[in-house]
Amino acid sequence: MKERLECVLKEAMEEIQAASDLQSLEKIRVKYLGKKGPMVEILKSLGKLPPEEKKELGKLANIAKNNIDSNLEAKKHTIEEQVFLERMQKEKVDVTEPGKKIEIGGLHPITMVIEEVLDIFKAMGYEVKEGPLADTTFNAFDGLNSPVTHPSRDITDTFYLNDSLDKCLRPHTSTVQIRTLKESKPPFKMVSPGRCFRCDTPDATHSPMFHQIEGMIVDEGITMTDLKGTLDRMAKALFGEETRTKFRPHHFPFTEPSAEMDVSCFKCGGKGCSLCKGSGWIEILGCGMIHPNVLAVGNIDTERYTGFAFGMGVERIAMLKYGIEDIRNFYENDMRFLRQFK
Ligand code: DAH
Repeated sequence: MKERLECVLKEAMEEIQAASDLQSLEKIRVKYLGKKGPMVEILKSLGKLPPEEKKELGKLANIAKNNIDSNLEAKKHTIEEQVFLERMQKEKVDVTEPGKKIEIGGLHPITMVIEEVLDIFKAMGYEVKEGPLADTTFNAFDGLNSPVTHPSRDITDTFYLNDSLDKCLRPHTSTVQIRTLKESKPPFKMVSPGRCFRCDTPDATHSPMFHQIEGMIVDEGITMTDLKGTLDRMAKALFGEETRTKFRPHHFPFTEPSAEMDVSCFKCGGKGCSLCKGSGWIEILGCGMIHPNVLAVGNIDTERYTGFAFGMGVERIAMLKYGIEDIRNFYENDMRFLRQFK
């Protein structure tokens, strides 16, 4: 019995010594100390021995069991430490190694122009408003004094959303003028940027989706002088303080009188170049004094209040400002194009 004990102990120690991972160590524990293992078997068989022998062997068996136990435990620690060291080795970080360069995104040129223009108007106390892209035909045309026969109302020009043609994708941001007039009491001044839609076939200067910025002020005593002063200030802030402006009579259903504003060419300074097609001037927006019929939609007392409004194409301004020749560049997300603006 004693020999058997020594033999089991020796075998167990050898196996523990040879174990290289925690799973095999566990198997060894079950094999030697488990219910069906030799140690239990030996302890059980002690009962049959005479008391003296039983006492001595019992002691030895306990020592052997404790021995196996503590060796298992010690080996477990060794293996765990080894695993930890190996992991540390593998996961080693060289903090002196140069980092991976993370490319930081930039603003889209359309966003840059919108933000620049909004900042100019915010500084003059204008509120920024946004309207929905799908709106009523009333807000897009009728409310804006646009005659029923106006060509821009054709189904070949405007994207209508239903058969009754009373809902459409807004063809301009002027819809927000009607929304503001209905919601607010004068005095107010607002600018409204956003997407617009027209049935245009894409080419270098047309896109069925594009951006505009609308502006409007209504107060007592607003005159054409305020319009000219405000838009001249914007042009100088946007294109440089040396910029001059010129207002040419025009026609819009929603303003009377109406005008288009030209700015002196910021490339040649007005001498004439390829950008301004030799004229020295570049057209950048439409504007005018708000037509009384439009003010009336918001139940505004047209004897007391007047206002001016303007609308400009963001793509056009971005193209002029950054020398972009094809409008389609804005929508293609070509990184080679977008990187130029970072
Ligand atoms: N809505 C016009 C367009 O899309 C631009 C415009 C012109 C807006 C004159 C205005 C304005 O507010 O007064 O071409």
